[in-house]
Amino acid sequence: MHRITLSTPDDFDGWRTAARRLAVAGVDPADVTWQVGDTPADLFAPDPLPPEPLRAAFSVPRAFIDLAEKAILHSDPERFALLYALLVRLRDRPGTMEDKADPLLRRVDALAKAVRRDIHKMRAFVRFREVEEDGGTRFVAWFEPDHHIVRANAGFFFRRFATMRWSILTPELSIHWDGETVREGPGATRADAPDGDPVEALWKGYYAAIFNPARLKTGAMLSEMPKKYWRNLPEAALIPDLIAGAQAREAAMIATAPTPPKRQGNAATVWAGIRDEAMACTRCPLYKDATQTVFGEGPLDAPLFFIGEQPGDQEDQAGRPFVGPAGQLFDQALGEAGVDRSRAYVTNAVKHFKFVRQGKRRLHQSPDAGEIQACRWWLGQEIDLVRPRLIVALGASAARAMLGKAVTISRTRGTAIPLESGAEGWVTVHPSYLLRLPDETKRAEERARFVEELRSIGERVKALA
Ligand code: URA
Repeated sequence: MHRITLSTPDDFDGWRTAARRLAVAGVDPADVTWQVGDTPADLFAPDPLPPEPLRAAFSVPRAFIDLAEKAILHSDPERFALLYALLVRLRDRPGTMEDKADPLLRRVDALAKAVRRDIHKMRAFVRFREVEEDGGTRFVAWFEPDHHIVRANAGFFFRRFATMRWSILTPELSIHWDGETVREGPGATRADAPDGDPVEALWKGYYAAIFNPARLKTGAMLSEMPKKYWRNLPEAALIPDLIAGAQAREAAMIATAPTPPKRQGNAATVWAGIRDEAMACTRCPLYKDATQTVFGEGPLDAPLFFIGEQPGDQEDQAGRPFVGPAGQLFDQALGEAGVDRSRAYVTNAVKHFKFVRQGKRRLHQSPDAGEIQACRWWLGQEIDLVRPRLIVALGASAARAMLGKAVTISRTRGTAIPLESGAEGWVTVHPSYLLRLPDETKRAEERARFVEELRSIGERVKALA
């Protein structure tokens, strides 16, 4: 029996070194136990493996390393053994990573998926409270992850809050950043983190402003923002009131609105599965700096489907498309055109916010052709699922995503384009183009033209339905 002691619960390098030597030496997974901590590795002497490997060295696909790096962060004590068993299986059956029915691979996949979700939750739900200390302001957050993700996730916070001094306290360890260097400290308790300050008031105002009762789905909200995290979130104090108010307002809306179309079969479950996968998307590098994937939203049998470019700063934080300044203009224009946004599916060509940092600000950058192409994977699935009659591309990036090639807005605008999906495609300007126009008269003219286009789109959808 070999007993392997790893230095920390997320010690991937330690696991990899030991696992490689054991696998090359032909050690059966049943003959290895794994532990974390200071306990001496009594049965695993300094040179415990046979001097001659029983088999030639072997290599594993990159996909295994990526999977193992995530799965090892899971809190399941079996993870090291499961990963070692999978490594041995790969040694003997190199095609195992392609065998999606392999029960061991599925189990390890499930661990990695839970870890990715936890990483996403930490990015979305860490909230900093401002504290004064010698030498200035520090932002301190308390977070309780389910898995050992804090070290692996720290890079995101360094990049995202590079210019602030901050600390993230968790039960297992704490991470402190002073703008230049990082320090790791011991675990903490909730009582170590400050509670309540002016930053919270800002958060609460922001959250109440973006809350839309018509789109409230309590179940989805609970799964996306589990109650466990509510205690950390200043805006969560508002949730019971917002939900109660929303339900009353929604009841009034239902009483006056026509019956909404029925959902098709299990579309909602399929959609949630695709959305969950997209939450862990690494198909292009934009996921590294964005807070979260911003997936599309709206009825899954919507006849009308809008594609924007990518989430902006506010969408990146809220996790929903078109809630910032461009979204407000879009909502107003739709309202004036008599088009009901709550009956349309609204998404983006690219699901992560791309930006450059300028001081404390994050300035939007247009996605490139490769990023749009990588994200068409998700857009295609959204279109296949919703099967809209009419798809509207807002701006050049959206048009490229819809058509699979670059087009000029001025030349394509105003003409119906038959799409592969069977829908009719239309191209128009992006609302932020209107926001950016410096000349007031031109802005008013272009805005009126946009509203008219939306009006005829609304009529066209009715004719197609
Ligand atoms: N601009 C977009 O294209 N999409 C959004 O969601 C927000 C701004």
